[in-house]
Amino acid sequence: MKFFIDTANLEEIREAAGWGILDGVTTNPTLVAREKTAFADLVAEICRVVPGPVSVECVASEAGPIVEEARRLAAMAPNIAVKIPLTREGLKATRTLAQEGIKVNTTLVFSTAQALLAAKAGSRFVSPFIGRLDDISQEGMDLVREILTVFENYRFQAEVIVASIRHPRHVIEAALLGAHIATVPFAVLEKLFHHPLTDIGIDKFLKDWGRAVK
Ligand code: G3P
Repeated sequence: MKFFIDTANLEEIREAAGWGILDGVTTNPTLVAREKTAFADLVAEICRVVPGPVSVECVASEAGPIVEEARRLAAMAPNIAVKIPLTREGLKATRTLAQEGIKVNTTLVFSTAQALLAAKAGSRFVSPFIGRLDDISQEGMDLVREILTVFENYRFQAEVIVASIRHPRHVIEAALLGAHIATVPFAVLEKLFHHPLTDIGIDKFLKDWGRAVK
């Protein structure tokens, strides 16, 4: 499974890139708005730090303007993927952009039907938002399971990005289902490291090593 980091924060991105497990980045308008750096500079630097796909989101709502905005965003760096919400207009734009070779990440996906439409339109990535479904008492991982089955049935090229991840269990469940990618907030990535028995084990080994004859 590929790991993307779900943030626009350069410190977090640099730190996670240093761990050697980072395959890409996803941002959205909310995440970008938290940063103090100008958007173009921020995106350029993120794309320099991480060679894998970096998703940046379109905010236009009609197909024509979405296509124009997406072309501008895609021209910022060779590894840009353009995030487009799943709407009728977004779908039209996706088809045009896919034919031009621009990578589209269809975002705000909450149903298998939406994911199927995105894949048919030529989307490169499809992002079901798991945590937000859990928030309304719907099992988010059921959606991931269904989408993976449909994509496998028809050999769609689109990769599933499990998004809106809130805790390590989401990451594990995504991996158990065979999801292609999990996009994980920094705080959750950090939690993946921790186990109290690892800490206790290191502590004991260091103490014992101190008594060893050297
Ligand atoms: O990748 C989508 C993600 O940023 C949404 O997460 O926690 O706002 O639902 P959240």
